[in-house]
Amino acid sequence: MQALPGFRDFLPNDCAMRNYIFARWREVARRYGFVEWDGPVLESTDIYKKKSGAEIVDQLFNFTDKGDREVAMRPELTPSLARVVAAHEREFKKPLKWFSVGQFFRYEKQQRGRLREHFQLNCDIIGETNSAADIELVALCIDVLRAFGFSEKDFVVRISDRSFWTDFLSEKGVSVERWDEFLQAIDKSGRESRERTAEKLGKLADPIFSILEGGGKNKTLDQLVDGLRERGLSDYVAIDVGVVRGLAYYTGIVFEAFDRAGKFRAIAGGGRYDNLVAQLSDNAVSMPALGFAMGDVVLGELISETSHAREKLETEIAQGRKIDIYVVIAKEQRRGDALAQIQQFRDRGYRVDYPLTSEKVGKQFQIAEQLGARVTVLFGDEWPQAKIKNLATREELLIDNQALQSHIERVLSRSS
Ligand code: HAM
Repeated sequence: MQALPGFRDFLPNDCAMRNYIFARWREVARRYGFVEWDGPVLESTDIYKKKSGAEIVDQLFNFTDKGDREVAMRPELTPSLARVVAAHEREFKKPLKWFSVGQFFRYEKQQRGRLREHFQLNCDIIGETNSAADIELVALCIDVLRAFGFSEKDFVVRISDRSFWTDFLSEKGVSVERWDEFLQAIDKSGRESRERTAEKLGKLADPIFSILEGGGKNKTLDQLVDGLRERGLSDYVAIDVGVVRGLAYYTGIVFEAFDRAGKFRAIAGGGRYDNLVAQLSDNAVSMPALGFAMGDVVLGELISETSHAREKLETEIAQGRKIDIYVVIAKEQRRGDALAQIQQFRDRGYRVDYPLTSEKVGKQFQIAEQLGARVTVLFGDEWPQAKIKNLATREELLIDNQALQSHIERVLSRSS
């Protein structure tokens, strides 16, 4: 019996890593003043057909529900966000700074860094056209990665501007309807053969290749890099007009974060999508927007392969697993008294464990050490006193059971 291809079982270590990732995501998004929201995991298929672009529609996990609705497991959050924002537009002061942590589903070919389910952090700013928002968003993406212990030697955010290419295409007389086709070909050019890309680009192949090879930039991109330089973050970014992003709705700045060694697929990606809210609401509401999403799969692989990031993760996981108190039951007649005390400790918020069934005292102390307990409290012949042992200092004390709670509080606050 195995999980479906591209789906993961999260054993305790995997869950610990997932929680670690989620905790860093939430912590840094909140540092930037973002508030958390979420949408449903099932949406009408139309919302993706309307706006995400052909690639995502091909990858939908979709079906007809029992009410004959065409529905899809969400492959991304942005269309849901645009829908929700259009519906609740009047309830919130702009700009909105919203983040979300959730699971997404894409029927992709399973490969390194790409599965059929994954988790994303989404951070979006709605209702702001000023480039200050673009700078803030890229800085946030960088700081989220820095929170995992990565430095500018480990990753780079490649930034680009779709307007650079749409200006180019319009100059070359390419009609607006065909822009998406060209943008998709440029997006895939890094992953496909030169011949295949040239075929798609036709007579524009040579000038496009020469821009991709020689580099290109514009005022918006320079401004973005300057803004990041002011914050001391410019070493984390590089202008790369080869990044155009696969999703159809982007209108301006786009960016993707990659590991410096170039071993993995993108860790994160995003950009401006100033028309999506209007398009999804049939022009009822129009609001500029920008955002990015970071996935847990590539990020997890990069953490595992980068020693300083992995050590940070391991330390945190080990710390998070430790318990405060292990109650040693040396005499079975004292089990009832021990359980009454355990209940009180737990009510105070302490992490407490004890043997569910009769166990040799030596073995119980061994388990206490393995669980990382800070103190043991032994219930045995000494009752109505209990023996407290500080496992770090090895100090032992006999305490009257009435005074146990207050004494433990003192010991634990001293050693924390
Ligand atoms: P995306 O580039 O499609 O953008 O996905 C964002 C990130 O999610 C990727 O960089 C990758 O880390 C992760 N990811 C995507 N697909 C998979 C997969 N099959 N397996 C594992 N990880 C995956 C978006 O989804 C946009 N909606 C982002 C956005 C938010 N734009 C504006 N706001």
